[in-house]
Amino acid sequence: MAEAATLGEALEAVPTGPPPQPAITAALIAMAETRSAKLDLICHLPPAFPAPRAGPAELSDHSTIPANLARMAENTGDRYAVARTALARIPHGVAIIGAADGTERSCATGTAMYVSFVPPMVAIAEHPGSRTCKLVQRSGAFSVSFLHASQQDIAERAGKSAEGPDKFATLRIKPLEAPPDAGGAPAVADSMAVLWCVVRDSRETGDHVLFTGEVRAHQIDPAKIDALLRFRRRYAHIGHITSEESPEGYPT
Ligand SMILES: Cc1cc2nc3c(=O)[nH]c(=O)nc-3n(C[C@H](O)[C@H](O)[C@H](O)COP(=O)(O)O)c2cc1C
Repeated sequence: MAEAATLGEALEAVPTGPPPQPAITAALIAMAETRSAKLDLICHLPPAFPAPRAGPAELSDHSTIPANLARMAENTGDRYAVARTALARIPHGVAIIGAADGTERSCATGTAMYVSFVPPMVAIAEHPGSRTCKLVQRSGAFSVSFLHASQQDIAERAGKSAEGPDKFATLRIKPLEAPPDAGGAPAVADSMAVLWCVVRDSRETGDHVLFTGEVRAHQIDPAKIDALLRFRRRYAHIGHITSEESPEGYPT
């Protein structure tokens, strides 16, 4: 350990198998240069002491992960620590959530997941402090515009609040108006795919509001396949397609 010149070399030198001694773990964390690298290490190094095993032996392989995460939040006093490290490892397609009420319009960077095929439904989680959340609550509708890799700048801009009644206009994001009877939420022009939804359910979920929406209309651009993704607090592109399109079976 003492001879290692870089964090990478020091990590290489950690013996695999038994957990490292507390001194080794502490030395590695001290070598990490940024706060985010330190958090990564606290989260992902095996615990210096074996985690208490309350359950049956076959569950023991899983016990280190929650133990590490709990310790990380405790050690750093950072209540977002688990979100930043563990939840950030859920890869997501990047979407812009759009909503409007009268002349007030907003759009916020976010994510969405499908929750039903028939009828088609998606879920989004919005922070109650965001303008978009309030507009979804007031109008009962939202749009989800899945961004193409070429639209990263839109994700960056819509991920911050903006002045003025119309965030599309303030940020110069070209809107795509909703078709008739689709709820009326503005979407983002030139996206890879757009869903226009009406709210079917909304409930407080932790520090967010979880909206479930029924898809009333959609638009896809079949020429755009390089989705913009979010993973480990970074933007990314979709990378390589590794199979042919499934001819049957699961619908998605
Ligand atoms: C990649 C990324 C993903 C985000 N996902 C969400 C999300 O799922 N829910 C949410 O409430 N905010 C999310 N945000 C933050 C909002 O986009 C941000 O708070 C925005 O300023 C809200 O704008 P508004 O107040 O105009 O609605 C995300 C931001 C980024 C950059």
